[in-house]
Amino acid sequence: MATKAVGSHVCSDCGHVAHRWFGRCPACSAWSTATTPEAAEAGEALVVSLDSSVDTAERFPTGAPEVDRVLGGGLVPGEVVLLAGEPGIGKSTLVLQLIDSLVGAGLPTLLITGEESLGQVALRAERLGIDTGKVRAAAASSLDTILASARAERPGVLVVDSIQTVADESLDQSAGSPTQVRESAAGLMRFAKSNATALILVGHVTKDGSVAGPKTLEHIVDCVLTLEGERSGSVRLLRAVKNRFGSCEETGVFVMAEHGLEAVVDPSAMLLADRCHGVAGSVVFPGLEGTRPVLMEAQALVAENKSPQPRRVAHGFDSKRLALLLGVLQQRAGRSFVERDVFVGAAGGLAVREPAADLAFALALASAHADRAVPSDVVVFGEVGLGGEVRRVPGSERRLMEAARLGFRTAIVPRGQERVPRGLKIIETDHLSRAIALFFEAEHDPDLHLSESSEIGRMVSLGAEASAGSPPR
Ligand code: TYD
Ligand code: MG
Repeated sequence: MATKAVGSHVCSDCGHVAHRWFGRCPACSAWSTATTPEAAEAGEALVVSLDSSVDTAERFPTGAPEVDRVLGGGLVPGEVVLLAGEPGIGKSTLVLQLIDSLVGAGLPTLLITGEESLGQVALRAERLGIDTGKVRAAAASSLDTILASARAERPGVLVVDSIQTVADESLDQSAGSPTQVRESAAGLMRFAKSNATALILVGHVTKDGSVAGPKTLEHIVDCVLTLEGERSGSVRLLRAVKNRFGSCEETGVFVMAEHGLEAVVDPSAMLLADRCHGVAGSVVFPGLEGTRPVLMEAQALVAENKSPQPRRVAHGFDSKRLALLLGVLQQRAGRSFVERDVFVGAAGGLAVREPAADLAFALALASAHADRAVPSDVVVFGEVGLGGEVRRVPGSERRLMEAARLGFRTAIVPRGQERVPRGLKIIETDHLSRAIALFFEAEHDPDLHLSESSEIGRMVSLGAEASAGSPPR
């Protein structure tokens, strides 16, 4: 009965024909019933004009806004998502909470657990306050068994925790081996694509990413999400490192709490909540997580140590970057850390990877070195080069807006800022030594004095030509 329209999809339940792929049949509302009639003659690939293939597949929200943001608005029928992270970081917790949201949004889901028994999953779900009566789950590790259960259940979303426990029994290899991971993932993906079922594969990775598993899958799945965080701390970041159906710009911020992962609505406020004021070695850095501005505290501690090899310890900050900053501070700003232990860290459990944090960490180090505090209403950003020069960084305006929103009064920034939010005094600097002089040398320009007054959109340039007002060469 189905007209054999080119590129059409037919509901296997009611025979409804649609020109576009559907996750849920628009006619009879059945899930995962879209099938593709034989589209091409043997030996010939179906050729179409691209406009008929524009991907307008309906995207469905998962009901968890923080996850949707990272996915790009929700899941797409047939989409395959790899959720990767270190063991113990919270992947199983996240998928269980996600299933709860999906079920709440009316989507049939199926959880395949290969790592934990159904009893363990149920216990955890109860602790998370999930209505276990609504969660469909099976403990299985054989690919064929999983596919049979999925065929019978016809879920809109299939979750497999984890891909390392699944084995295609026709292969003579144990679960978790590279071949097994690849082949069983391929089998699950075929099911997902031909049934318009969204598939979420959980995969473990180690810190160096060396474990054979998920890395080998990254290029075949549609979307790779990573869940990261310092395991000792409670902050967790969900990032898309690959996304065929959306951007890789967004970051979800969570804390692991007593009842699972909680979305953090205002990360800056959370990260700065425990800040000590007036302490040397602390500088606030307006960072960017994807497109999202997040204020965090750069901390440094310097302690005397006469041993030939004093310690250099970095937490949540790259240790090579720390070595570079110490070199620049010594050679370009006259601050030597010889015979001193140096510790730096990003407070709050978020790691900082942006070069934009250089100036904040360098000032925190100079502040600890001088044992003098940077005023607590100051934010600092800018990349520091080997010559001590301060370079521009992306997203300045967003960083400044966030600082203004949280009540900061002064920003030390690279030169060339275009727009300045109200209520923020901007001090532009082109060199690390001048930024340091601003705070830790007595005889700095009185005009640059950091007063308590709030100036609206005032901009000061701290650079040789600019401050002297000399004409261009
Ligand atoms: P889990 O989701 O099992 O990690 P993964 O699947 O990535 O290996 O989470 C493990 C940790 O999370 C565990 O050590 C305990 C902690 N946790 C909480 O702090 N609160 C909770 O509500 C839950 C469920 C777990
Ligand atoms: Mg787990």
